[in-house]
Amino acid sequence: MELSNIIAGLWRQPEWDLEGARLAGWARRALDLGIDTFDLADIYGGYTVEESFGAALRADPGLRQALKLITKCNIKLVSERRPAHLRHGYDSSRAHIIESVEQSLRALGTDHLEMLLLHRQDPLMDPDEVAAAFSELEASGKVLAFGVSNFTPSHLEALQSRLAWPLVTNQVEASVLHLEPFTDGTLDQALTRRFRPMAWSPLGGGRLFSGGGEREVRVRTAAEGVAAELGVTVDAVAYAFLLRHPARVRPITGSGKLERLGAAVRATEISLSRDQWFDLWTASTGAPLP
Ligand SMILES: NC(=O)c1ccc[n+]([C@@H]2O[C@H](COP(=O)([O-])OP(=O)(O)OC[C@H]3O[C@@H](n4cnc5c(N)ncnc54)[C@H](OP(=O)(O)O)[C@@H]3O)[C@@H](O)[C@H]2O)c1
Repeated sequence: MELSNIIAGLWRQPEWDLEGARLAGWARRALDLGIDTFDLADIYGGYTVEESFGAALRADPGLRQALKLITKCNIKLVSERRPAHLRHGYDSSRAHIIESVEQSLRALGTDHLEMLLLHRQDPLMDPDEVAAAFSELEASGKVLAFGVSNFTPSHLEALQSRLAWPLVTNQVEASVLHLEPFTDGTLDQALTRRFRPMAWSPLGGGRLFSGGGEREVRVRTAAEGVAAELGVTVDAVAYAFLLRHPARVRPITGSGKLERLGAAVRATEISLSRDQWFDLWTASTGAPLP
């Protein structure tokens, strides 16, 4: 299955003042820009975002078949929408995964998900149980592909060892302000296994623009320099920084503003030189290359 190089994230949708037909219109414009994949999770908005996106899909009946849905499970939040959850915790049991997917399908008003991710590394994850749940969901056609999020490479390998088919992604925090995946083995594993990782908070959750710390100011200044050289915006430079990596990272946008999604797509049309890339890297680390 091919996903767009840029994925539209819906975590912040409750802040956007976009519901129903207007949210459907937003998704249509994202499709027009070339973004066909939308990232959700059961817990987003305190278990409300899947329902909101489901209402948008119902408002525009042709929309569902034009786009690809990713959702996640295994975090349990205390919420009046989930009275059975007595504590904040993680649950990667077979029963919870199946139940969570059934609820996501109902909320979204669809009979399948293009991709399901385990949301967080769970110290009590039993790979055999997850494999049983994934196999069941795959056999029933309810989920087409499976991945993980925020997993260390070794945790991913433990799960992969029980699966008959490859996990297709690890969705992790990665940006010019969060370089750990570049050096902790996360992106190396993606290269080794030939899957494409996804990067959440690709603009540092907005800190690239608003952050007043020394690191943020250094990175913003460097990104402004590269942006001026290439004739693009600072956000496009931050996306291009991720896209330049040979693991072919897919950035996940967080904005409801279409011009900001447009900047992410623009980044797929440029390529940072090695000099530009390492200028950003050293601005972020605050130290010259060894
Ligand atoms: N798997 C996980 O554990 C996990 C965790 C977190 C997030 N995610 C996924 O990743 C997606 C993206 O995360 P994120 O929202 O943190 O991404 P982000 O793009 O790093 O941050 C988005 C924030 O940056 C602001 N912003 C964007 N462009 C801007 C610009 N040009 N100037 C000033 N501010 C700008 C946005 O404001 P505006 O809204 O005003 O544009 C928004 O507040 C989420 O929607 C979710 O799907 C996954």
